[in-house]
Amino acid sequence: MKKRLLDLLICPCCLPGEYPFIVDIGREHDGDIESATLICPECEARFPIDEGVAMLDPHATDSQRTANKYETDEVVSSYMWSHFGDLIADEHASQAYSTWAGLMQPQVGVALDAGGAVGRFTFEMSTRCDFAVGIDTSHAFIRAARHLMQERCMAVSLKDEGLLRREVTIRLPDKWRSDRVEFLVANALALPFRRTSIDLFSSLNLVDKVPSPIRHLREMNRVTRDTKAQFLLSDPFSWSTEAAPMEEWLGGKCDGPFAGKGLANVVALLTDERGELAPAWQVDETGSVWWKIRTHCNHYELIRSCFVHASR
Ligand SMILES: C[S@@+](CC[C@H](N)C(=O)[O-])C[C@H]1O[C@@H](n2cnc3c(N)ncnc32)[C@H](O)[C@@H]1O
Repeated sequence: MKKRLLDLLICPCCLPGEYPFIVDIGREHDGDIESATLICPECEARFPIDEGVAMLDPHATDSQRTANKYETDEVVSSYMWSHFGDLIADEHASQAYSTWAGLMQPQVGVALDAGGAVGRFTFEMSTRCDFAVGIDTSHAFIRAARHLMQERCMAVSLKDEGLLRREVTIRLPDKWRSDRVEFLVANALALPFRRTSIDLFSSLNLVDKVPSPIRHLREMNRVTRDTKAQFLLSDPFSWSTEAAPMEEWLGGKCDGPFAGKGLANVVALLTDERGELAPAWQVDETGSVWWKIRTHCNHYELIRSCFVHASR
């Protein structure tokens, strides 16, 4: 993990209290911490940095990790295609990430991509601000994103059919800056970042996957600046009780709180001057993009992801 990130980090167990870590460094090289323990001076929680990967998810347990579908090689390969398929000139690749990136105005400061998977949007943000961080609860995704950051290329085995595989190599374009990105294992419901430390925040296809969507939005609001901040949320709003109890859904219901559609309810939350996401956001644009996931060469999932870009 790049050492400069230490200035932003706080203990995710003590929120909303803000306690920067005591850092016990084992190995570092050229501004990169390879192994260390981050210790909270308040609650004494300890978070390892192992082979450069900081593990800052306070809710992670080994059994949750094994059960996490985003930890398997097959899903990593599927997301590598989804994020970088256009770089191998795949005729079926989706243009979703460049469309989302085009919505973010270049500005000074730090970008945070929550649930950023294998890193495409974080790399895109490295061209639009000073530094970009991708966080995800999946260790496998974060390891893949860091591999790309360090090596600038990665061999990926794409499933063709059954046991048949096709090897491709993903190479990052020069404009995406490895010195301006970092990837951490962290939880979007308990972000290990200081209040108002983030200038551009993105949440792509995540809000319907977390057990408490409103907690994710509150965390987004805590860490983003009160002024000169941008927020991009995009989601298919595929509410399911597998991800969150129905009471927690921010849409997809006929009555009660958050009745109606998810995008309209998120917009209402963002723009409410006295609401819990104040200071209020101004909506710049809403719309939708087609986002694609590939399972094998004859099987793709086509998902309409509805977005709102807001600023304040
Ligand atoms: C549907 S994928 C979307 C990935 C990426 N944002 C994109 O649009 O390509 C959801 C991602 O959120 C991650 N995730 C799920 N729950 C999370 C949480 N509580 N905090 C952070 N990441 C989470 C998953 O590991 C996965 O990478």
